[in-house]
Amino acid sequence: MPRPIEALIHSDAFLHNLARVRECAPDARVWAVVKADAYGHGIERAYDGLRGADGFALLDLAEAERVRALGWRGPVLLLEGTFEPRDLELCSRLDLWHTVHCSEQIDWLAAHKTQAPHRVFLKLNSGMNRLGFRPQAFRAAWSRLDALPQVGEISLMTHFADADADPSSGRGIDAALAAFDTATAGLPGERTLANSAATLRHRLPRVAGDWVRAGIMSYGSAPDHPQHDIAHWNLRPTMTLRTKLIAVQHLAAGDRVGYGSAFTADAPMRIGIAACGYADGYPRLAPTGTPVLVDGLRTRTVGRVSMDMITLDLTPAPQAGIGSEVTLWGEGPHGARLPIDEVAHAAGTLGYELMCGLAQRVPVRTLG
Ligand SMILES: Cc1ncc(COP(=O)(O)O)c(C=O)c1O
Repeated sequence: MPRPIEALIHSDAFLHNLARVRECAPDARVWAVVKADAYGHGIERAYDGLRGADGFALLDLAEAERVRALGWRGPVLLLEGTFEPRDLELCSRLDLWHTVHCSEQIDWLAAHKTQAPHRVFLKLNSGMNRLGFRPQAFRAAWSRLDALPQVGEISLMTHFADADADPSSGRGIDAALAAFDTATAGLPGERTLANSAATLRHRLPRVAGDWVRAGIMSYGSAPDHPQHDIAHWNLRPTMTLRTKLIAVQHLAAGDRVGYGSAFTADAPMRIGIAACGYADGYPRLAPTGTPVLVDGLRTRTVGRVSMDMITLDLTPAPQAGIGSEVTLWGEGPHGARLPIDEVAHAAGTLGYELMCGLAQRVPVRTLG
């Protein structure tokens, strides 16, 4: 028997979430963001649920090849563009659209020999200070690109640092939006600004632009958790991580649990040992109290997460025993659900990190 842990990918949830993206941005086209191997789901597994998007956006050239190998003939956008000059050959061969965020990438294009002009997305640094031309350098970059025979259509792009921010924090998208509007005023070309948080929270046509770039919301995680959860945004989990109980212990008051004896029972209790640990991608820093479902009933972890096991309080699930189903995140039995964001929040991280961190050793099944 293999270890009982498995991950499930829910294709129907992708369809639902994609429909939600379209509802939120009815006049825009949709990039399905599938970087990091479709946020840990596997590009090939996510493809069926996401092929109704208008394009796929990603970073890695090998991932772009995989999308083309699946038969996708539509737009593919490299969100960070090329990493070295020879990447342009693959862009020409696979017809990849690419971001241009620095002058070196323009130099490489100027030296590139190509029959078909490239479609590029010129990126503005609107305050995040990762990638992109600063506002005062943006128009010169646009003019340089416009003058190159290697370049066809030029689209305009930025990325928000604070689209998920609570308005009371004083942060948000206003300054970035104003910077984008000023830097791009009068320039032709399609616009793309919005990630999931902007798509869900800031429903203005000028934010949605011509293309929204929907990442995390496609995967059933709320970009602004814990302000809002997936029930609020009507999103559905695309990944379930589940396992089984492989042992049960009866503790007396004063008994301790796991490495470091980090949990002490204050009364007699049953605990279940589940076959899932940090080597499966469960967060090692999840403290006692992290939510988990046993047979669909909500309970909590106790003690430290170890490499292959976690320990669960069985008090709310008195019938549970060896073989009982444990839902680490996603869809549980009997319609129970544990959003990945709740687990991530308890562990001091984000749903993004948990889904991207699903370990290689976990078998994955796709459900229709
Ligand atoms: C440039 C760019 N656009 C869009 C996205 C999608 O963001 P999200 O997953 O928050 O929707 C990302 C992800 O970080 C990104 O880097």
